[in-house]
Amino acid sequence: MVLNEKYEFLINGLIEDEFGMLEEFFPRELLLNLRSNAEQYYQLGLMAPAGIGRKFSYEKNAKVRGDLIRWIDNNSDDQYEKAFLESVHDFISYLNQSCYTGINDFEFHYAFYDEGSFYRRHKDQFNNDFGRKFSLVSYLNEDWKSADGGQLVVYTQQSSKKIEPRLGTTVFFRSDVTEHEVLLSHAPRFSIAGWLKKV
Ligand code: OGA
Ligand code: MN
Repeated sequence: MVLNEKYEFLINGLIEDEFGMLEEFFPRELLLNLRSNAEQYYQLGLMAPAGIGRKFSYEKNAKVRGDLIRWIDNNSDDQYEKAFLESVHDFISYLNQSCYTGINDFEFHYAFYDEGSFYRRHKDQFNNDFGRKFSLVSYLNEDWKSADGGQLVVYTQQSSKKIEPRLGTTVFFRSDVTEHEVLLSHAPRFSIAGWLKKV
């Protein structure tokens, strides 16, 4: 698939099924390099529990989500992060041109779910900040097995769909309406999650 076909596929998925999913959105090589970035950040102690200093205490937060995150600087000098963000930017241009979505900002973070971690059912848009319009999650796990758990469950009007967090798989859905959760992971699980925003 050429890039525009990939974009169309994700967008049509969102329009028709409430979420788009593609198994090879970003190049495999890029994702492997982002995976090693994330592993290095983790080993250097540079990933931290999400949401601290916001509304929740760490204890309360840990009951909802157990992942560690690191935000990607939108002006990062890292060649792989740069390439990733450029791809995101290209997708946003396509989305804005084809759907008049008016996206003008984005934010992405690496996430690490250690064994025993999960993220309870939620929506991504905050109650007091409507900036997040679309969620885009990509997985960085080679050789993931169903028994490893950690599936993303996307809840739609009609049903729900379980998605394995395998390297290359990318999921796209609306941040304000689409509920989803990360099931208990039985293996170290890395992802990049982010939001296309209108601010
Ligand atoms: C999130 C999220 C899903 C995942 O960070 O809001 O839902 O599979 N992540 O990492
Ligand atoms: Mn989420």
